[in-house]
Amino acid sequence: MRLLVCGGAGFIGSTFARQRVREHGDEVTVLDKLTYAGREENLRDLADERGFRFVRGAIEDADAVAGAIEASGAEAIVNFAAETHVDRSIAEPDAFVSTHALGTYVLLEAAREHALRYLQVSTDEVYGSIEQGTFTEQSPLAPSSPYSATKAGADLLVQSYFHTYGLPALICRGSNNYGPYQYPEKLIPLMILNALHGDSLPVYGDGMQVRNWIHSTDFAAAIGHVLEHGLPGEVYNAGGPDEEANMAVVRRIVALSGASEAQIEHVADRPGHDRRYSLSSQKVRALGWSPRVRFEEGLEQTVAWYRENAWWWEPIRSGEYRAYYERQYGRALQP
Ligand code: NAD
Ligand code: TYD
Repeated sequence: MRLLVCGGAGFIGSTFARQRVREHGDEVTVLDKLTYAGREENLRDLADERGFRFVRGAIEDADAVAGAIEASGAEAIVNFAAETHVDRSIAEPDAFVSTHALGTYVLLEAAREHALRYLQVSTDEVYGSIEQGTFTEQSPLAPSSPYSATKAGADLLVQSYFHTYGLPALICRGSNNYGPYQYPEKLIPLMILNALHGDSLPVYGDGMQVRNWIHSTDFAAAIGHVLEHGLPGEVYNAGGPDEEANMAVVRRIVALSGASEAQIEHVADRPGHDRRYSLSSQKVRALGWSPRVRFEEGLEQTVAWYRENAWWWEPIRSGEYRAYYERQYGRALQP
């Protein structure tokens, strides 16, 4: 397949691009704005692969999108491009609205004009929080943060293009991802890097919030599977095999990184903090996908990856992220 992968310089998009080029022989063109979270380094090992190209541009820029479609001869668009951090959406929601609403609209129009298959990458957070049981594709949308609300809005727009214009559009919603190349503002890489540097480990509230962890290679594979085998107009949930409370995750990271539990510090809770996410993957499993990486094994590999790849995170920890960390946590990181 020839794919236009929007947001492919981010954490999951770059994992997907790598999988499609290496394991499926696809031609992949990445279109990415390179926000603070998008980095060409994430695609460094693909730069010289046949059939791979990178174009810098924003999904809300119709000319950039049209140019990338023409240059790539794309048969399908896979849209990962998003602002993805809940805490940033609480502090500064603007970019969340423009990228998720306007950006998705521009991509849908382009897909319609060029008669392309379209896959929107989405999140379990659109369903809100669930105390017991598990969300299915029939669960009502009840997002709680500006991040999840704008992602839900984008999903509704995608569905409207299927119903109104017959656009062959699909949605794949994942649970919390972890793995190599994840920007360190998110729980797992933040805790790993802080643990390795002797920084404190800031747990929001009581730390008993539960997340349903999926390795990024498993989510990327689910997206590819839905792209190839899913029915247009349908939503497919892809949840990980394990759920764990944040405190348990942090304790595992302390043990794997050789840090001390004394580094754990409870800090003020996130406003509107969702207590638990849990996603049923029955529908995508029936299509033939299943996750391969259990959390215990995947977390150990992820800690090892961060330990061995300082080239990747050193520029981040000494750049914009340092200032973000001070604003968000009210303290400086160790040099
Ligand atoms: P990320 O923040 O690592 O990467 C996002 C990428 O999108 C970056 O490369 C960024 O430069 C790019 N981007 C942002 N705005 C853009 C714009 N306007 N135009 C073009 N490019 C733009 O995010 P991620 O964790 O890889 O998430 C990718 C997708 O998966 C998102 O849609 C997210 O909602 C979804 N998702 C993420 C998770 C998770 O746990 N990380 C879970 C489920 C779903
Ligand atoms: P995060 O990685 O931001 O993902 P999401 O909010 O999309 O689930 O956070 C995962 C969980 O970890 C969430 O319950 C918030 C919590 N958390 C902390 O306790 N401390 C932190 O410094 C961060 C970033 C997250």
